Amino acid sequence: MYVCSCFGITEKQVREHADTGACTPRQIAGACKAGTDCGSCVRKIQALLGRGSCPRRESLDPVVLTPATAEVSVVELPAAEAA
Ligand code: FES
Repeated sequence: MYVCSCFGITEKQVREHADTGACTPRQIAGACKAGTDCGSCVRKIQALLGRGSCPRRESLDPVVLTPATAEVSVVELPAAEAA
């Protein structure tokens, strides 16, 4: 079934690109141009990407703090002045 009729890109092709590391509609567009003409297929591509697992998705997350990477700093506040 075609996902992008402008470029004749099928659902299978989108999944194949996703399997090789394209995790966003922009990356799919970079791989096969899908979504770069009328844009009406971008939501369908996003939906397809959302269903499958993406091997690189974790590395795309901006910052994930885990207990191993999180730093907690304690700032001592000045003692309240006695009135
Ligand atoms: S249907 Fe994909 S860009 Fe038009």
